[in-house]
Amino acid sequence: MTTWIVDGGTPLRGTLQLTGAKNSITKLMVLALLTESPCTFTNAPHIGDSQITQAICEALGAKFNLPNPHEIQIHTPTILTSEIPFELGSRNRLAIMMVPPLLHRTGRAIIPIAAGGDRIGPRPVNFHLDGYAKMGAHIEVHDEVYDIRSDGLHGAEIVLPFPSVTTTENLLLGAVLAKGRTFIRNAAIEPEIMDLVMCLQKMGAIIDYNADRTLVIDGVRSLTGVTHEIIPDRIVAASMACAGLATHGDITVLGARQEDMVTFLNTIRRIGGQFDIDQAGIRFYRKGPLSPIAIETNVHPGFMTDWQPPFVVLLTQANGMSVVHETVFENRFGYVSELQKMGADIALYDTCLGGSSCRFRFTNYPHSCVIKGPSALTGGDISVPDLRAGFTYLIAAILAKGQSTIEGVEHIERGYEGIEDSLRALGASIKVV
Ligand code: EPU
Repeated sequence: MTTWIVDGGTPLRGTLQLTGAKNSITKLMVLALLTESPCTFTNAPHIGDSQITQAICEALGAKFNLPNPHEIQIHTPTILTSEIPFELGSRNRLAIMMVPPLLHRTGRAIIPIAAGGDRIGPRPVNFHLDGYAKMGAHIEVHDEVYDIRSDGLHGAEIVLPFPSVTTTENLLLGAVLAKGRTFIRNAAIEPEIMDLVMCLQKMGAIIDYNADRTLVIDGVRSLTGVTHEIIPDRIVAASMACAGLATHGDITVLGARQEDMVTFLNTIRRIGGQFDIDQAGIRFYRKGPLSPIAIETNVHPGFMTDWQPPFVVLLTQANGMSVVHETVFENRFGYVSELQKMGADIALYDTCLGGSSCRFRFTNYPHSCVIKGPSALTGGDISVPDLRAGFTYLIAAILAKGQSTIEGVEHIERGYEGIEDSLRALGASIKVV
């Protein structure tokens, strides 16, 4: 366990350089296993989740070469096994993404059921499995594994019950080499998915996307190697923007792209935050107090669920009562109790507050909250439960009066490259113990 001591009360000021998106690189690594030819990814982030995904790919036979910290070359002439080692498969949720390369190249995928990743809801994989069953795969569950076989996937008409990100990506990778045409309806269309589509097109895939969330994929016989630059991480960009604005600082996020953050930027403007956009990136700052707001999270192009935790800390500094309704993950307010201990005035509700009803309306999950601000936070002793909650605690600790102890910082390093150096360079006082 890595522990940090943070002395709060310093506004964050300065410049930060974004690298590629965590939620792109992990899927691109899997995509590289679809071809026997070498693939190169630039602007790759140096984070814990890519190392875990790399270890899974290597166990299957991929050879990695890292000529510099932000370039990854992957070559998989042969797949050595159809089985993901349990120890690796249970460390993040990416194991289920290995189904397409394993089925296409070996006819079988054996995936541990125990899924790692953040504790933000049950996070089942039923949509993935239903999609593969429609494409002709035979699925059995035994000995704590999904045992999936196919002697050739075929095109299918798949309607997702919810526009799930990883399911869309998984079925897309299955469909590009399946025989015939696949329709994925109600698909997710996050920028990271479009990045995957762009990369697949360079490799020879045929994928159309329609305005009605339908992806239409004509299967091809094989894919070539590729060189592809990963899109910048819009979750890191928004997290740092919240940190800058909450601490009354001034942060320029180099590499941040307006097109990926339109809803976030509108929301920042609605609460009275300022931003300037140019070719190099986006500068975030304040000219005065922040106003409250009612928002709900949603799939793209809505307000991302991953922006929600850092944004809630920001709202503790707004003048008045804000409402946040989480509609993507049922259990994404787990971090709130620690913020309450630090002095935040946040109340949780299991009803759908502030707008439309969501899938969780008849559950007991506290998926809405009311934040009364501004609150003067004080330092606390905090244990980090997951990635985004972890960064949220960091913002709270930097903003708070006094000292905080933050245990389990390695969760944050899964998704934020060089976070210690970046925050120090922006003025945060951090000691590693
Ligand atoms: N769902 C099902 N069944 C499935 C798949 C999903 O019921 O088979 C449900 C989930 O339980 C959830 C909803 O569908 O309620 C949406 O889940 P989704 O599949 O979209 O999430 P994910 O693919 O598991 C990815 C990101 C998350 C991000 C979400 C939403 C990766 C590796 N993870 O998760 O990122 O929050 O999409 O944008 O791409 C993070 O970066 O910290 C993170 C958690």
